[in-house]
Amino acid sequence: MAVIVHERTGTFHLTNDAVSYVFRVMENHQMEHLYYGAKIHDRESFDHLHEETMRSQMSISSPEPSLLSMQYTKQEMPVYGTGDYREPALVIRQENGSRISDFQYQGYRISNGKKSLLPLPATYTNEDSDAETLEVILYDALSETELILSYTIFAALPVITRHTEITQKGTQSVVLERVMSMSCEWNDAEFDLVTLDGGWARERYIHRRPLASGIQGVLGLNGTCSGAEHNPFLALMRPDATEQSGEVYGLNLIYSGNHLDQAEVSTFDMTRVMMGIHPQNFEWNLQTGESFISPEAVMVYSRAGLGEMSRTFHSLYQNHLVRGKYKNEVRPILLNNWEATYFDFNEEKLLNIAAKAKEAGVELFVLDDGWFGARNDDYRGLGDWYVNLQKLPSGISGLSKKIEDMGLKFGLWVELEMVNKDSDLYRSHPDWIIGTEGRFESHARHQHVLDYSKPEVVDYIYEMIAKVIRESSISYIKWDMNRYMTEPGNGEVMHRYMLGVYDLYQRLTSEFPDILFESCASGGARFDAGMLYFAPQAWTSDDTDANERRKIQYGTSLVYPVASMGSHVSAVPNHQLFRKTPIESRANIACFGTFGYELDLNLLSDAEIEAVKRQVQFMKKYRRLIQVEGKLYRLISPFPAVNRTNAESGNEMAWAVVSPDRKTALAAFYQRLNKVNASWLRLKLDGLNPDILYRITWNDAAGVEAGEETAVDMKSYEAYGDELMHAGIPIDRILLNRKGGDFASVLYEVEAVE
Ligand code: GLA
Repeated sequence: MAVIVHERTGTFHLTNDAVSYVFRVMENHQMEHLYYGAKIHDRESFDHLHEETMRSQMSISSPEPSLLSMQYTKQEMPVYGTGDYREPALVIRQENGSRISDFQYQGYRISNGKKSLLPLPATYTNEDSDAETLEVILYDALSETELILSYTIFAALPVITRHTEITQKGTQSVVLERVMSMSCEWNDAEFDLVTLDGGWARERYIHRRPLASGIQGVLGLNGTCSGAEHNPFLALMRPDATEQSGEVYGLNLIYSGNHLDQAEVSTFDMTRVMMGIHPQNFEWNLQTGESFISPEAVMVYSRAGLGEMSRTFHSLYQNHLVRGKYKNEVRPILLNNWEATYFDFNEEKLLNIAAKAKEAGVELFVLDDGWFGARNDDYRGLGDWYVNLQKLPSGISGLSKKIEDMGLKFGLWVELEMVNKDSDLYRSHPDWIIGTEGRFESHARHQHVLDYSKPEVVDYIYEMIAKVIRESSISYIKWDMNRYMTEPGNGEVMHRYMLGVYDLYQRLTSEFPDILFESCASGGARFDAGMLYFAPQAWTSDDTDANERRKIQYGTSLVYPVASMGSHVSAVPNHQLFRKTPIESRANIACFGTFGYELDLNLLSDAEIEAVKRQVQFMKKYRRLIQVEGKLYRLISPFPAVNRTNAESGNEMAWAVVSPDRKTALAAFYQRLNKVNASWLRLKLDGLNPDILYRITWNDAAGVEAGEETAVDMKSYEAYGDELMHAGIPIDRILLNRKGGDFASVLYEVEAVE
């Protein structure tokens, strides 16, 4: 891996075994992008890749007889106002009202490793040799503003990360109106655009459509979170690329607030992609000596389809983003009381639920919403982070002790960024909510957003919650956030809010390094890389229906590791869909994640409890493979349009995790509706060693719902890896129909035969 600089030609080449990224200084001293893609040989000059020709209507931004026009030139950080009529990546308003800038090359710095961007989350290196960082220094003389474009290339991964730093070096003040974290261009538009979109309870569905002329992309404007609507991710896929083959560029923003993720195809079929904080209601004042640092953008290159792109993201995030005790560590199997009790609980009820969980082999009991202040419903209490002694007479300290005495760890829910107007906190600090003087204060879930752009608010909440944690035995915190921002005031508030959230996370994770944090935002509205830096797992969705979870977790896995996906077995009829799915299938999807339960196990039948015990044992056996060591291979998509397959409208889904030595794998097959008189199906695995003989084992029984005595019927046979990948595992769908009705699933344990 190297950052190669050819000073004579002003050429920069970031390269490793897989990828090359080339740019240079142009004749007008700005930075031109030349190439990004598969690794190519280094040359002292790539000037011949510059495309320049006389065209009518072109504005030339260099003295005669130059033909250099920004409209037709690929750039590293395009600006406004000098003949480029596409969307700029950077807009700076100066004292005279002008938005024109001219950032000219000054020099560069190369360093080993990568510096921290705190308070912003960012990828990091474990050893200096993991990556190399190039900073290109540019300067706009008129506004006296310095621009640093920062690039890090990782040694062992096809990954380049970028961010932007701006410093006001002079005496005037400037206003940043738009600062993208990255901008990159391709000289063609032969791409499909892939995004992750949805809404509450249906987060991160995969969408793929051909790139077309003009601007397309996604955004997040919610203020408090990256949003359930659109993840801060986009990929460009060659039209012939699939899950397993073809060229894919995946981009992800390490940020939890407003985001713009955009592709623009020019009339000359060039593609410009940019990503960063959305400029809507963004404005940042820079006075003399002040700097602004953008969030980091991650760029992943794959020549082997979406699957390889995802495995690269997973590896990067598990090894260079997630921090703390649970980095590369298995996650405790938990039981959360939310869907078991909602607000209706007391200590006795909780202990009763916990005792049954312990009996089933669960390791962590999590007390969700409703333990504090006057919080008996969602109209009141948020902000009052002290225990409700009527409900819990021995307090959180007493309850956590009792839970620990049972042999379980104890976890707690919080929603630290919010306040109900009916709370002591609001009554004493009505000026602490985000709003705009004279404007109606919109409400959502009867609550308001605390103004985390004010350090005193963050300090106050920190002290309040740290006290609860210090006085109790807490091993896990579910950090929820349940509304979007409204009436946000000035253009700095939303980003400063996010910096306040990150600051609080940093302080709490530093003071309590042994606590496992799980982020949450009305389910999965904050499932982003920014959160993963602080909280290694996130509640994937409030939708716990097994069938819906197939799509949500499959889509989420496009970018985020299996170990980051909070996933629980819940009761039937399901509380979101009112659907019944077999208990085996609920566990078979939840086990591709952190795994836990969200129901009162006391209400299950004996046969179901036996199934739960088997599931817990199974997860304990396989969680290191699933969560820490295994690589994910998606096999059948519930979004058939994405892979252009004929799979019937997403009725089937399958995926597998494979150990690094390829001796162990776990594959899961799920079907939605039963089919009458159905044909056999072949499940083709991936990622195995073709020359290893494997034993495949699965439970062929009808399942708990169909009768206790047929709950376990293990079958197995042996086959080589090549057979499993090319001929596949035959699945008899007539037999599958017996598995408790619709929504059947099967887990295949694949073990090398010694
Ligand atoms: C949100 C979360 C749920 C639960 C409730 C509690 O909706 O996503 O998991 O914690 O809040 O109010």
